[in-house]
Amino acid sequence: MKDKPKDLPLTKPTAMPCVVSPPTLSFAELNANPHETFATYRPSLPFLRREDGAYLVLRASDVRALVKDQRTKQVETQSIAARGIASGPIMEFVTNTMLFSNDEVHRRRRQPLAKCFSFRRMESVRRDVRSLAEDLAGRSLDGGKLMLRDDYAALIPAITLAGILGIDPSDVPFFTSLAYRVSKILTSSWTAEDVPDIEAASRELKSYCSDLIISRRSSPKGDFISDYVGSVDQDAELSAIEAVMQVVSIVIGGTDTTRAAIVIQTGLLLEREDLWEALRRDEDLIVPAVAEALRLEPAVASIPRLAICDIELDKQFIQSGSVLVLSTMSSLRDPEEFPRPELFDLHRERPRWHPVFGDGAHRCLGQALAQLELAEALRALVGSRRRLRLAGDQLYVHGHAGIRQVDELEVCWD
Ligand code: HEM
Repeated sequence: MKDKPKDLPLTKPTAMPCVVSPPTLSFAELNANPHETFATYRPSLPFLRREDGAYLVLRASDVRALVKDQRTKQVETQSIAARGIASGPIMEFVTNTMLFSNDEVHRRRRQPLAKCFSFRRMESVRRDVRSLAEDLAGRSLDGGKLMLRDDYAALIPAITLAGILGIDPSDVPFFTSLAYRVSKILTSSWTAEDVPDIEAASRELKSYCSDLIISRRSSPKGDFISDYVGSVDQDAELSAIEAVMQVVSIVIGGTDTTRAAIVIQTGLLLEREDLWEALRRDEDLIVPAVAEALRLEPAVASIPRLAICDIELDKQFIQSGSVLVLSTMSSLRDPEEFPRPELFDLHRERPRWHPVFGDGAHRCLGQALAQLELAEALRALVGSRRRLRLAGDQLYVHGHAGIRQVDELEVCWD
């Protein structure tokens, strides 16, 4: 994979300077070549500062501890407030989603959804995901070419989610385009100029999810939304806006992330002919390949937290009240935990729970769904009677934090 040339060059040299305190880098500098930047500083510094005041924590042992220990809690509105958003539909989402809440409020918001997205329940959709992936891959066989991001990777999570939520499949293009626009707020590449569009899309997505809830309340259909509305109404623990924003959270969490991850894993593997052939010979390597791709080029690059006391990491200090960006992107390539980290190793030892999905109370609600979508998306491509190849540019992944973005990836069948 190559990083696209950017207007702004990386300001720091690759040879390690004798640094005493962590430098502050701009968003543009960090986005320019994040892997190289992290690898340059990680041996000597536990974190970097960012222009918005956040601390980017780089090392695997620190990220693993801080994601769930007593020194931190989930950020609430601090991150977007630091970037000048004080009210409006983005703030309304951030204030009401499970993602940016803590303790009892978080439990109330997550609990009605937790069962539905459990590993056991999600296994029941595997068959549908498999035939969807095989169908989408099969459709392109005759034409020869496939626009992997838009005509494959985007559709697998979106159509699957529509099925789980009971959304009309004809709504897929509409709700996904809104989700992509809103999820920009969770990337590292939005600027003040993007805010009006993100706000307009947030308003529309809220109203779409709210209409879904209202229609199932008046005529339940026995689907996910009907069950959810039933349990929310019965327990009366969530306000109307909270009930809507958890559905919005799932639509946002379940579309962009998996789309990027499917493109990334396919791109990385197609760049390595030997690995692709190994997968064609042995289906048991699919799951390790998914995990290794998530480690090398994570679709979500970081996890936010707030320091609730002063924190010392390797003689460097973080003040209480600071926003932390726990860089999974850096930590998953930390050689202290992943020997020869740049290597795509199908036989690497793996932790039972992949760190890319976080840990503790906020561990990704959609982990089971994401992992099975990724496995089935890969299985259908690898298992096809024809051999897939890159047909245009290489894989390009953008962003150093939050949800990462991928360019279209053109592939073709031999
Ligand atoms: C490759 C795909 C995915 C990755 C890498 C990913 C990663 C993450 C991470 C790191 C978190 C924890 C954030 C934190 O601790 O602050 C998270 C939370 C979350 N994810 Fe995912 N995710 C993925 C797919 C999905 C899918 C398919 C869904 C759909 C159901 C989803 C829904 C959510 C939700 C609702 C939360 C908030 C959980 C909470 O705060 O309790 N994600 N995800």
